[in-house]
Amino acid sequence: MGDYVRVAGTADVKPGHAIVAEVNGKTLAVFNVDGTFHAIDNTCVHRGGPLGEGDVEGNVVTCPWHGWQFNVTTGECLKNPAAKVEVYPVKVEGDDITVLA
Ligand code: FES
Repeated sequence: MGDYVRVAGTADVKPGHAIVAEVNGKTLAVFNVDGTFHAIDNTCVHRGGPLGEGDVEGNVVTCPWHGWQFNVTTGECLKNPAAKVEVYPVKVEGDDITVLA
């Protein structure tokens, strides 16, 4: 782990949406939940689907491949509590979203 890295501008991730960003060789999905940003691994723990391309409702993203759902604030899978994706700390600095990964 190094420093917080800028992944996008705050205006680039609208509420209820996500972007995919590379940080230190990791591919992350960054979500805007009602104005608060959250970052998790982009890779679904089921079979590697891109969570950053899934539908978002409240704080839940649905994997576009087979529909597993994850809480983007905790990384927990709603279907299988043993399956979890990594969550990364996010800080907003001015107009920048930054992530520690
Ligand atoms: S790869 Fe995400 S639900 Fe199957």
